Amino acid sequence: MKEVQDHYFKKAKTEGYVARSAYKLEEIDQKQGLIRPGFCVLDLGCFPGSWMQYTAKRVGPKGKVLGIDIQNLEMGLGPNQAFLHQDILSLDLETLAPYGVPFDLVLSDMAPSTTGHKATDGARVLGLNQMALWVARRWLKTGGDCLIKVFHGPAFEPLLKQMKTEYTKVKPFKPKSSRKESSEVFLLGQGKLSVSNPGEP
Ligand SMILES: C[S@@+](CC[C@H](N)C(=O)[O-])C[C@H]1O[C@@H](n2cnc3c(N)ncnc32)[C@H](O)[C@@H]1O
Repeated sequence: MKEVQDHYFKKAKTEGYVARSAYKLEEIDQKQGLIRPGFCVLDLGCFPGSWMQYTAKRVGPKGKVLGIDIQNLEMGLGPNQAFLHQDILSLDLETLAPYGVPFDLVLSDMAPSTTGHKATDGARVLGLNQMALWVARRWLKTGGDCLIKVFHGPAFEPLLKQMKTEYTKVKPFKPKSSRKESSEVFLLGQGKLSVSNPGEP
C-alpha cells in the first residue's frame, strides 16, 4: 500500500500538483464525467489547491473555479481561478455574486482539525459536512452535482440520508489514491432536486 501512496506522491510532483489529492478527484471525474468545459465550480476547503489545479484544467478558459479556505492559499492563480480566504460559514450572496452563482458543481474536500476524542471529532465532521450541504442547497443550481468528503463513523449515515432527500442519486466512492487505512469516503449527489433550492432570502 505504501508503494501506491509513493506512486501518487511522485506523480503529483512530476505533474506539478501541490498535493496528491488531485488524483482522488480525477478518478471520480473520469468515472462520472463530473467536471465539464465552461463549468463554474465552487471548491470548499481548497488549500493547498490541487483540486483547484485539476478543476481549472478541466473547465478550461471559459469556466471558473472559486476556492475557499480558512488557510491562505500559497500557490499562484490562473485566469480562471479565484480564491476567498474565509470560513465557509461566513459566505453570503454578496461575496459569491462576482463568481458565477448559481454554481454548476460544488466540491468539498473539507476536513476539521481533530482532537482524538471520537465523539467530538464525529460531531465536527458532521457539522462541516452539513455546512457543505447547506452551501450547495443555497448556491448550487438545480440539477447540479455535489461531491462531499465524509468519514465512516457516526456522521456517515445521517449525511447519506440527508443527501438522498436533496439529490436524485447519491453514490459513494473510495478512490484508489485514497489511503486504505483512512476512513474517508466521497459522497456524490447527482441532480440536485428543485425542492432543495429555496432561493435567496
Ligand atoms: C484535505 S484539505 C483540502 C485539500 C484540497 N482539496 C487540495 O486538493 O489541495 C481540507 C481543507 O479544509 C479546510 N477547512 C476546514 N474547515 C473549513 C471551513 N470551515 N471553511 C473553509 N475551509 C475549511 C482546511 O483548512 C483544509 O485546508
